Amino acid sequence: MRTWLIRELAPRRGDTVLELCAGPGETGFAAAELLGEEGRLLSTDFSAEMVAVARRRGAELGLRNVDYRVIDAERIDLEAESVDGVLCQSGYMLVADPAAALSETRRVLRRGGRVAMSVWGAPERNPWAAIPGRFLVERGHRPPPEPGEPGAFSMASEERTRELLEGAGFEGVRIEEVAVQWVLRDLDEYRRWLMDVSASLGVTIRALPAQEATALTARLEEAFASFAADGGYEVPGVALCAVAS
Ligand SMILES: C[S@@+](CC[C@H](N)C(=O)[O-])C[C@H]1O[C@@H](n2cnc3c(N)ncnc32)[C@H](O)[C@@H]1O
Repeated sequence: MRTWLIRELAPRRGDTVLELCAGPGETGFAAAELLGEEGRLLSTDFSAEMVAVARRRGAELGLRNVDYRVIDAERIDLEAESVDGVLCQSGYMLVADPAAALSETRRVLRRGGRVAMSVWGAPERNPWAAIPGRFLVERGHRPPPEPGEPGAFSMASEERTRELLEGAGFEGVRIEEVAVQWVLRDLDEYRRWLMDVSASLGVTIRALPAQEATALTARLEEAFASFAADGGYEVPGVALCAVAS
């Protein structure tokens, strides 16, 4: 995903690039390396804790052309037409109002500036997130998602993503599928990783009574059997990556 997003954003030396929903910041850091000393990356997230993680990581990498800010993607606290490019990996689908976030993105982009973004594709093609999610709903631990509710799959069709981008005033929308693969040693590692990367699933899984936790493990063993490889698992997934200006 990262390779696709950076290639399509194609940042140039001296550009200002905004990363929204940056989390630990790694995607933006790959762009920062291309911006040179005269360019600037604004690494942002609405969680101050995530911004602190990104700041620490950027310092470890010795990056000196990065500013770190708490910014809500729905209300971007920047001047209109003030950035050359926007990056957002696995972010817009988790924002409460993605239409507002994309309009804000268009507003802060200079004319001709691009957004490069990714969201997860269809649940059937992302068993790493869909299987535990479905289990928790079927067993009554979570309500089924409401239409349009933010979540891993809230922008999981090309039509929906295109409609949101065009509705925000973007043109030249191009969307491609990018395959991903999670290589996992065992189900314990998977469970720990899932609780780290998905705040919402993590909270529910942590609270499961012991019997239900065992039932989830049994479901995962069955569902992941076909992904077994080298003593662990190689679980596939598909992202929808989009670029537009
Ligand atoms: C799944 S993580 C993705 C992090 C990173 N882009 C990556 O791919 O590793 C989603 C991030 O979006 C942030 N987020 C969710 N809603 C947001 C909003 N309205 N404005 C800014 N950040 C938001 C969360 O705090 C979280 O760090």
